[in-house]
Amino acid sequence: MSDRLYIFDTTLRDGEQVPGCQLNTVEKIEVAKTLQELGVDVIEAGFPISSPGDFESVVELSKAVTWPTICALTRAVEKDIDVAAESLKYAKKGRIHTGIGTSDFHIYHKLHSNPDAIIERAVAAVKYAKKYVEDVEFYAEDAGRTDNVYLAKVIEAVIKAGATVVNIPDTTGYTLPNEFGEKIKFLTENVKGIHNAIISTHCHNDLGMATANTVSGIMNGARQAEVTINGIGERAGNTSLEEVVMILKSRYQTLNIETGINTKKIYGASRLVSTLMNMPVQPNKAVVGRNAFAHSSGIHQDGVLKNRENYEIMDPGDVGINESAILLTARSGRAALKHRLELLGFEFSKEKLNEIYEEFLLLADKKKDIRDDDIALLVGDATRKERRIKLNYLQVVTGKDLKPMANVTLDIAGEKFTATSSGNGPVDAAIKAVKQIIHRQIIIEEFLVQAITRGSDDIGKVHMQIEYNKNIFHGFGAHTDIITASVEAYLDAINKLPVTK
Ligand code: KIV
Ligand code: ZN
Repeated sequence: MSDRLYIFDTTLRDGEQVPGCQLNTVEKIEVAKTLQELGVDVIEAGFPISSPGDFESVVELSKAVTWPTICALTRAVEKDIDVAAESLKYAKKGRIHTGIGTSDFHIYHKLHSNPDAIIERAVAAVKYAKKYVEDVEFYAEDAGRTDNVYLAKVIEAVIKAGATVVNIPDTTGYTLPNEFGEKIKFLTENVKGIHNAIISTHCHNDLGMATANTVSGIMNGARQAEVTINGIGERAGNTSLEEVVMILKSRYQTLNIETGINTKKIYGASRLVSTLMNMPVQPNKAVVGRNAFAHSSGIHQDGVLKNRENYEIMDPGDVGINESAILLTARSGRAALKHRLELLGFEFSKEKLNEIYEEFLLLADKKKDIRDDDIALLVGDATRKERRIKLNYLQVVTGKDLKPMANVTLDIAGEKFTATSSGNGPVDAAIKAVKQIIHRQIIIEEFLVQAITRGSDDIGKVHMQIEYNKNIFHGFGAHTDIITASVEAYLDAINKLPVTK
């Protein structure tokens, strides 16, 4: 029988403490709903006494979330606990997370106290929180640097006082994985009543050991892991959710521990948190980094095409990444392009493939990182050659304080037509020049420009909706030059109009 690990997500508390990562309540609700869909067991929603905004967020998240436990952080201070309890009044399942520093550093140099007085305060805080909620989690701040025998005394006392979860934070990210594992083991063997509570890990990443310490803690008996999406959090961050979850999934045969996480939702959650919190994910970040499943060298591409498992220990689809593992660059061969096209559902003759490959190389020279969207557009371009009306030439002159001018040549069923026009912008000038050639009463109903991925070298994607004779037609264009993309989208729609003789 496998064991279950509870996932306690603190993206909205420890993660949100990071300067520049603050979210408003609406954004927090969006993240919380995503965490709920992901399947986390507990959402730490904030530290209500710290600000009216944090209080409000815990209230709103309590209302918005249906099944995960909503947790509010406090110090071992009655007023904090009162406010936390008040903020949780709408929570279907509420938890108060209270605690105090237990290392000598914290006892003597932060709290100016002594070990016995700290135990008294810890016990009093847990008992006080118990008056409000059944589910009380106690944290022993800086447990990583706390003497194990003293820590066991603290934990035994708070469990006796009613703590349902005991959190052992490596607050400063100092411990080594074997030391952290031994600490958890020591508690399981030396704390009377330890089976009445769940042991939790809360590791920081100051020395890059947060995930290793968390896994070591789990291997030694912890059954809750406190984590954040993308590992965001104080200083170097917290243990990342995606790493712990995917370690347990990938090494299930060895560890035999499950979580309730729907791993296919991981990538989406990572993107959402990164975007809302303005925290880019480093490209080589495990599991969710842009390059986490990207193979760019010819040898690796060949190996992966023969068998994915030659170079991959996880299926990108398992974390919700549906792009192929093969990174298409100017160094990729026809085989890699053909493979990607097949995955996208396209099959072409050898000649057509050669044609698309030539266009692919031209694009790869302009754009380092070719993605599925780019390929789909490339194929669109290749098929577009069969259109009746084609863009043959486009030149635009534009700039600050200049009147934009466009010169356009269209190829209509093999015959060339040229026109020149000015406009209030370069797109307007180019479209007006096209209209001079086309002579039809066309109204542009919608004009949407979008960058596909990122970077100034990106392909711009244009959707256009036109109205002709009370009928609506859609057109689509894409190019690294946004004016060309706009004209292509316009022509794409016009090509769908009935041909008049
Ligand atoms: O790092 C830490 O010790 C914490 C506690 C407040 C749980 O964030
Ligand atoms: Zn922390």
